[in-house]
Amino acid sequence: MSYIDLRSDTVTRPTADMRRAMYQAEVGDDVYGEDRLVNELQDRVARMMGKEAGIFVPSGTMSNQLAIRSQTQPGDEVICEYNSHIFNYEGGGPALLSGVQLHPLIGEYGILTADQIAQVMRPTDHHYAQTKLITLENTHNRAGGVVYPLPVIEDIAAIADSQNVKMHLDGARLMNSVIASGLDPRVIGDQFHSVSLCLSKGLGAPVGSVLVGDAECVDQAHRFRKMFGGGMRQVGILAAAGLYALDHHVERLAEDHQRAKTLAKTCQELGYLENDIAWTQTNIVLLTFPNGNTAEMEEKFKQAGLLVSVVNDHRIRLVTHLDFHEDQLRQSVKILKRVLG
Ligand SMILES: Cc1ncc(COP(=O)(O)O)c(C=O)c1O
Repeated sequence: MSYIDLRSDTVTRPTADMRRAMYQAEVGDDVYGEDRLVNELQDRVARMMGKEAGIFVPSGTMSNQLAIRSQTQPGDEVICEYNSHIFNYEGGGPALLSGVQLHPLIGEYGILTADQIAQVMRPTDHHYAQTKLITLENTHNRAGGVVYPLPVIEDIAAIADSQNVKMHLDGARLMNSVIASGLDPRVIGDQFHSVSLCLSKGLGAPVGSVLVGDAECVDQAHRFRKMFGGGMRQVGILAAAGLYALDHHVERLAEDHQRAKTLAKTCQELGYLENDIAWTQTNIVLLTFPNGNTAEMEEKFKQAGLLVSVVNDHRIRLVTHLDFHEDQLRQSVKILKRVLG
């Protein structure tokens, strides 16, 4: 049986044209800094975000962990959101790899405010861990692909700046946010010291993320990438996929957002959409099951030909992506009506 796979936007396969670009890629040894396409990709993402330098890494998790390690010292404190990827899905990496303590705050739909953050920043008294970094997630995955409003980011950045605290953006799905908001990525990047961008989510590349920041931060990240075992060799093959994705797969994210809206509308009509439809802002749709029967529903969807992601007992997630087309959208709407109706 062939399934429609809406578990995640990471399930996409490289397109024929992307594979061609990978096949034709010229390669060099990236640990020596000699892979031309890796250098091009790093420079391109750095320029796009208004930063001095970039570093290509295997995953979004490594990118976030390098950002934390490069901008903190053991014993420091990092403020993050309670439902963020860094706090929930990175295996406790900040404690082990950077020796920092995370200070999670609950944001409404994943969005923290400057006031919330100002209240928990630590004074320089010797009793306290020192607040050194704030991490935000845009779009916010667990909140359902919510776009961080720029004025809120600007207010947080102003508070951070006034206390000499750095700002990191987990931009695994930053391009979804850019397409949904119409903002220039650089305008967002200006508010942060480091930004992580994933190529293997909505952009449809098979592997890779790029961390960008100032030259010193990226230099530190190089040192720690080697230490964490993330130094790669002839990865121009992967950089070629990333460059192809930036050329061809950014504007089309609007289609993913449109299809997510259609799915959300169907779920809303059936009474299963978790939040007001205004919160389906990009490519993620959250369904709610007050009876706590999501495992059973996952199986029912599977039998009907649809793969979904169970977030917890009460929540199922659908994510639209490059390999989810109009005909599958029509089929999915039918399946949702059949299973939930
Ligand atoms: C918001 C966010 N950040 C980081 C990551 C980590 O990416 P990776 O799976 O490449 O480590 C993910 C993965 O889904 C994510 O959703």
